[in-house]
Amino acid sequence: MKKILLSCFLFALCFQLKAETGYELWLRYQALQDQALLSSYRQQISNIYMEGSSETIKIAREELLNGLSVMLQKKIPSVSVASASTASLFISARTSSFPSGSGIKELLQQTGDEGFVIHTQKINQQNRIFIAGNTDQAILYGVFHFLRLLQTQQPISSLQIVSVPKVKLRMLNHWDNMNRTVERGYAGFSLWNWHTLPGYIDPRYIDYARANASIGINGTVLTNVNANATILTPTYLEKVKALADAFRPYGIKVYLTARFSAPIEIGRLKTADPLDPQVRQWWKDKVKEIYQYVPDFGGFVVKANSEGQPGPQDYKRSHSDGANMLAEAVAPFKGIIMWRAFVYSAEKNVDRHKQAYDEFVPLDGAFNKNVMVQVKNGAIDFMPREPFHPLFGAMPKTPLMMEFQVTQEYLGQATNLVYLGPLFKECLDSDTYSNGKGSTVAKMLDGSFNKEQTLTGITGVANIGTDVNWCGHPFAQANWYALGRLAWDHSLSAEKIADEWLRMTYSNHPTFLQTASKLMMESRDVFVQYSNPNGLHHIMGTGHHYGPAPWVSNLNRPDWNPVYYHKADSLGIGFNRTATGSNALEQYHPEARKIWENMNTCEEKNLLWFHHVPWTFKMKSGRSLWDELCFNYYTGAAKVKSMQQAWASLKPYVDQQRHEQVRMLLTVQHEEAIWWRNACLLYFQTFSKQPIPANYEKPDKTLDYYKSLRFPLAPGNGN
Ligand code: GCU
Repeated sequence: MKKILLSCFLFALCFQLKAETGYELWLRYQALQDQALLSSYRQQISNIYMEGSSETIKIAREELLNGLSVMLQKKIPSVSVASASTASLFISARTSSFPSGSGIKELLQQTGDEGFVIHTQKINQQNRIFIAGNTDQAILYGVFHFLRLLQTQQPISSLQIVSVPKVKLRMLNHWDNMNRTVERGYAGFSLWNWHTLPGYIDPRYIDYARANASIGINGTVLTNVNANATILTPTYLEKVKALADAFRPYGIKVYLTARFSAPIEIGRLKTADPLDPQVRQWWKDKVKEIYQYVPDFGGFVVKANSEGQPGPQDYKRSHSDGANMLAEAVAPFKGIIMWRAFVYSAEKNVDRHKQAYDEFVPLDGAFNKNVMVQVKNGAIDFMPREPFHPLFGAMPKTPLMMEFQVTQEYLGQATNLVYLGPLFKECLDSDTYSNGKGSTVAKMLDGSFNKEQTLTGITGVANIGTDVNWCGHPFAQANWYALGRLAWDHSLSAEKIADEWLRMTYSNHPTFLQTASKLMMESRDVFVQYSNPNGLHHIMGTGHHYGPAPWVSNLNRPDWNPVYYHKADSLGIGFNRTATGSNALEQYHPEARKIWENMNTCEEKNLLWFHHVPWTFKMKSGRSLWDELCFNYYTGAAKVKSMQQAWASLKPYVDQQRHEQVRMLLTVQHEEAIWWRNACLLYFQTFSKQPIPANYEKPDKTLDYYKSLRFPLAPGNGN
């Protein structure tokens, strides 16, 4: 009988689940099924008063009314100003509108331009909910937050929320080329249709802005860091203006990448030397022109003297010379420059890990006030697991901008389910010790130790494209979401963010949440385990970076070869970055170094990042290093099987279309995990000369087979 009832229930559940494409992201308002909650919400939100008439307020109002009417299955009436004092949901950006004694006025003194207050108060026996902010933008953020509370089915009867973003700039970097290919993009083409702009405003631009506003993102860099100067020509500035106009009411500012040689390429000058007066003037004029199109233009991101990009060093000038020239041009308009620290040169015979630090630390204090140095989370390049970048905590006079990668270049691209919340948090929570214990990377970013720091920011390389679900893999949406939420509040836990996202994107059902949250939370470690365990890094395929290729050793630049990073030989494997090796470790604070510097005590997840370790080295598990690597590769691949099973069990809670999509991708992921496992172990075995333990199934293909695989048309590589 029980069984029958259960199948009826499951059938009923499935029946209700309409196929979904994923286009709605986490803004997927659903009719509330829980009757008790529904009637409680209905009772507490019986009518609304929202003050204001700006474009931003109109957006907030429409979002709120629409969200409420769907979730509460009832049109919630708006009341006029005459009845405002009795409205159950009262929303205003005017401090004076709140009843005296409510305390809202005082709270708003702490919330700045973007923060908001959501408070439930009992006034004349009636519960009233206030959403307050100092600006219309803050109201929009507050409204999205309030809707999120309902979407995630939270109690609203005693809200005491004061939410202020921890950093000012919360951005996405699009690596979008002007021909609409996306560098490291795995979700179709660029959203920006330059050809039909400015005349045609694709409704998707608005949906993009809305999604970003819902998670607090307030800036977007439209163009690839490998920049094209054409974007700075009038024809394209007209198009940039159209996008900026569309995004503005959502609180999103537009930024561009500046190609350092633009004065030559589009300005017909003979040089781009940053100290040349004509070059300086050219940039000043160009910037003035940009501001005529986009009066609130945010500024430039610059990749200079990195991977072949032009820069000030072409003229024997420093990074600060280059950055300051541009900073001077944008300063009168309150623009900023985000100068990237992702620099390394093949000519220098210095561990790539050390180069950015070597180059930038001496420049601390040399940058103009409106320059930020934009630093990737780790010193190599967005690896699946990477210790925090030693620049964090090492440039106290320079505001540093965090650059995370949301697109999964090295983390399974569009085929692997990898939730990046734990990766972002691992870095943000790392202790730099630069100002004593507790000097986390997050605190280096948010100005905790420098009250004069006015520029603070976190950015992420976007994973968004024209795919119907925006991000390719349905779960990749969670990484966009996590970036926004952590940029707003880096103290949120990865679990909390996963829970919110799952509730809004899929279901509030406890059984679903329990399994799906575990799946997400473990997914990054699982990926690391079957691809780059124990601190291995940069052993992926050349160019497209898809799949394993640890054997590659013939590229022109030594520091692009996987063998440069794993250094496997007959004795052992790993990069010695201690004092007896490259000594990259010396760039970290002595206290921070401690967890890594001794091979015997080094945290094992980063062991081969810092040490060249004998194959026979005894790991904490009691296994030899070789056996440990075998264990990790096999266990990681086996865990993908468990992920498949876990997802299969969630079928009753997910619509057929999205369930099937993830199911198929997990099958692909399992094949890829086995590919990583077999290819890496067969290759490393040629050095260790040890067998794969007999309890594991033998690889069914040869090393030569794996070496012969080619993917000339893999996505994201400018094809
Ligand atoms: C990586 C990535 C490149 C990108 C570069 C950067 O190397 O593979 O495509 O241009 O990072 O961040 O500049």
